[in-house]
Amino acid sequence: MSARVGSISESATLAVDAKAKALKAAGRPVIGFGAGEPDFPTPDYIVEAAVEACRDPRFHRYTPAGGLPELKQAIAAKTLRDSGWAVEPANVLVTNGGKQAIYEAFAAILDPGDEVIVPAPYWTTYPESIRLAGGVPVPVVADETTGYRVSVEQLEAARTERTKVVLFVSPSNPTGAVYSKAQVEAVGRWAAEHGLWVLTDEIYEHLVYGEAEFHSLPVVVPEIADRCIVVNGVAKTYAMTGWRVGWVIGPKDVVKAATNLQSHATSNVSNVAQAAALAAVSGDLEAVAKMREAFDRRRRTIVRMLNEINGVECPEPEGAFYAYPSVKALLGKEIRGRRPQSSVELAELILEEVEVAVVPGEAFGTPGYLRLSYALGDEDLAEGVARIQKLLAEARD
Ligand SMILES: Cc1ncc(COP(=O)(O)O)c(C=O)c1O
Repeated sequence: MSARVGSISESATLAVDAKAKALKAAGRPVIGFGAGEPDFPTPDYIVEAAVEACRDPRFHRYTPAGGLPELKQAIAAKTLRDSGWAVEPANVLVTNGGKQAIYEAFAAILDPGDEVIVPAPYWTTYPESIRLAGGVPVPVVADETTGYRVSVEQLEAARTERTKVVLFVSPSNPTGAVYSKAQVEAVGRWAAEHGLWVLTDEIYEHLVYGEAEFHSLPVVVPEIADRCIVVNGVAKTYAMTGWRVGWVIGPKDVVKAATNLQSHATSNVSNVAQAAALAAVSGDLEAVAKMREAFDRRRRTIVRMLNEINGVECPEPEGAFYAYPSVKALLGKEIRGRRPQSSVELAELILEEVEVAVVPGEAFGTPGYLRLSYALGDEDLAEGVARIQKLLAEARD
């Protein structure tokens, strides 16, 4: 086994989800808060476009490695419509999901030893894809007291002469944090001032609640545009996690290099999935508005119920579909004869005792927290959190 690949850890979020699904398949009444995927089916008009593509012999063949030209065009148009950023198809690479977009973007710009500042709690895939590209992830931790938002002062304290990139994600997985326009601007200006690249992950752009607003970093700070890479995809907006379509938007030379890499690694993304993505990004945002309404309702329920538990503190997430409560005050307490010392042990206890799957904060670089995805049905959500409430009410010194 090579040192490079041998050191990659399993995706903790997928592992929790797999464990929960296996228990469910074995007949256990498990409720899963692990997976970061909408519980809705993909809207019909998108599925229909895929069915039609299946019947078209043009799609039975290889197509350009970097994506169907009409999809790249539609992604450029959608980016202008939703973010106000004018890009050309040559700035776009269609990838096998946001994950491949992130991997290829880092591979295209990092040299061995280049440092990438990664605000923590971070989505578990970022540090692994940075390491795979030879880079060094440098976490900067923000806790619940700032709503999990890092400040420019913190970023500056982590900057060295090896820093090449700052990763930015708003709305965030795993915390649901959304940065205000002024905060986005401050991060972007700081990066521009120091000649850094920004990789900004906009996959949750349409999932913001209440007063919160999404702001695209290269639109707020146009001077960074030629050192900015945007990652996005259809997974979360259109309930299309299984279709595997994402994209990179960036400077043409970076996109060209990443396309070359993809041409050898995986070639074109499945044409059927690309045709579905084309229908998704060319259509309106009605379906996501409906899903957002449901997520918002569930968000309010889960945050209220979690905060009712002694020892749990959950700031209100303003975006995505995750709650990220601190459980630090519960660690070391006795619960059903055990004393969980870490959030990993607490998550195990919750799964074993009340058959509810949650992801421990260790997966996101911050022990002492749990991540609960609230993209599941209202009844399951209420029942699952009620089980956690009942169990944790038994905690004793
Ligand atoms: C922040 C973030 N970025 C990117 C992705 C990648 O999504 P996909 O590879 O399913 O398109 C996810 C999925 O969980 C995510 O949470």
